[in-house]
Amino acid sequence: MSDRVIIFDTTLRDGEQSPGATMDLNDKLRVARQLEALGVDVIEAGFPAASDGDFEAVRAIAQVVENAQVAGLARANFKDIDRAWEAVKHARHPRIHTFIATSPIHMQYKLRKTPDEVVELAVAAVKHAVQYTSNVEFSAEDASRSDWDFLVRVVTAVIDAGATTINIPDTVGFAQPDEFGALIKYLIDNVPNSSKAVFSVHCHDDLGLAVANSLAAVKNGARQAELCLSGIGERAGNASLEEFVMALKLRPEYYGVECAINNEQLYPACHLLSLIISRPIPANKAIIGSNAFAHESGIHQDGMIKNRETYEIMTPQAVGRKSTDLVIGKHSGRNAVRTRLEELGYQLDTDQVNAVFAAMKELADKKARIYDEDLESLVFSEVYHLRIEDRFRLSNLSVQTSMGSNMPATAAVVLQDHDEEVRLAGFGVGPVDAAFNVIKQLCGSTAELEKFTVNAVTGGLDAQGEVCVHLRDGKYTATGRGADLDIFVAAGKAFIDALNRLELKESDNVISYKQNPVD
Ligand code: KIV
Ligand code: ZN
Repeated sequence: MSDRVIIFDTTLRDGEQSPGATMDLNDKLRVARQLEALGVDVIEAGFPAASDGDFEAVRAIAQVVENAQVAGLARANFKDIDRAWEAVKHARHPRIHTFIATSPIHMQYKLRKTPDEVVELAVAAVKHAVQYTSNVEFSAEDASRSDWDFLVRVVTAVIDAGATTINIPDTVGFAQPDEFGALIKYLIDNVPNSSKAVFSVHCHDDLGLAVANSLAAVKNGARQAELCLSGIGERAGNASLEEFVMALKLRPEYYGVECAINNEQLYPACHLLSLIISRPIPANKAIIGSNAFAHESGIHQDGMIKNRETYEIMTPQAVGRKSTDLVIGKHSGRNAVRTRLEELGYQLDTDQVNAVFAAMKELADKKARIYDEDLESLVFSEVYHLRIEDRFRLSNLSVQTSMGSNMPATAAVVLQDHDEEVRLAGFGVGPVDAAFNVIKQLCGSTAELEKFTVNAVTGGLDAQGEVCVHLRDGKYTATGRGADLDIFVAAGKAFIDALNRLELKESDNVISYKQNPVD
């Protein structure tokens, strides 16, 4: 058995199914490039049959990715498989990933198929995919709640049909580590042709066990793990790539396996994703949270001063965390900004550097210290967030509120709707509510605010405020992010960002793979 674990990243497919984590094509390309820098072996770029937007994104990623394999997901039907192949066929290393559910509850209620019919569909799907490429992965959805001997039957049949990777998902995050490890061992020992395929796992985090289950599977012979940056994904998410990888890297004597990940790219990758999907990383998140390397108690601080290893099992630098020292100020020149952006991993053209530089100068007039996080925030507001398709842009916002009176708060907003300037004033129960009411009226939106969070981009009293909002409009949801020294302006920017994303989503009419399960 090989001692190399294949790292299969599904941030762009299962991760994107996480409520509000929608990415447009440019966002996805940016994440894909970062995943290459991170050294993942397989990028699952999307589910091409889900929508035209998903198809285009998978095709574009297949065309730019150089080293990693690019996989497209497909239900076990010919139409999905044809569409997946159309999308991935230009990749240097294309993969078709087809799946069907194998648990009694899914077969009976969702698929309305007998076990015999499911085996037949799985085999037909794999045989169809193999006509396009020998790199075919088969997943037995809800495997952890499937009958073990039925799994042996399905897996044996699809390997005979040509599948070279067999994925065993814990779709609903129900498995326990010992039990899941035992299932993997049982399959490898009892599937007669198991040596012809790589066994893979794909664990969800409903009980907080996704990483533990994935590691238990590796201990028992799995040699591919399907993971997401920061553990995003359906419901409670998927196994966190950064946690899984650092466990393998820090405990080689325990796991006895390697992976090809460049661990210094872990934090940059998760940070980029957090900016793109407008979702802050929780402070206590292992490896990447702001508290992961912070030592508060006196005893711990004393230990750290004497020897870091008393309380740190890895250095922040090992996972690519940079210091937040002051780097750039009011008097810094364009070259200093360009150099620092390059050090932070941003490859920008001259116009983009100029845009960030101008915004930095403006910010430096109001704020004494410009930190790396401020610069990154400017890259997002000045470069990455300028989607060509954006319909609405905030030009001006002012709010008025008075404490202790019964007067409602007021907001006045000026925005660009395509090329037209529109303006309106209105009321709300507080200044943010007033601003959002006015923006909604100006944009003709019926979206409801589901979540609102505020964070400081850096420390200090003059920190920029970063606001993230989560909106719902019928079946569509979107998150938006905005940063500014004025928290109300940040809120207005975030709201408009989310409305623009909702517009994109509604026009793309995305379907979920859970709808219409087989055909
Ligand atoms: O969770 C799951 O079972 C999946 C499959 C499609 C692999 O995402
Ligand atoms: Zn999944």
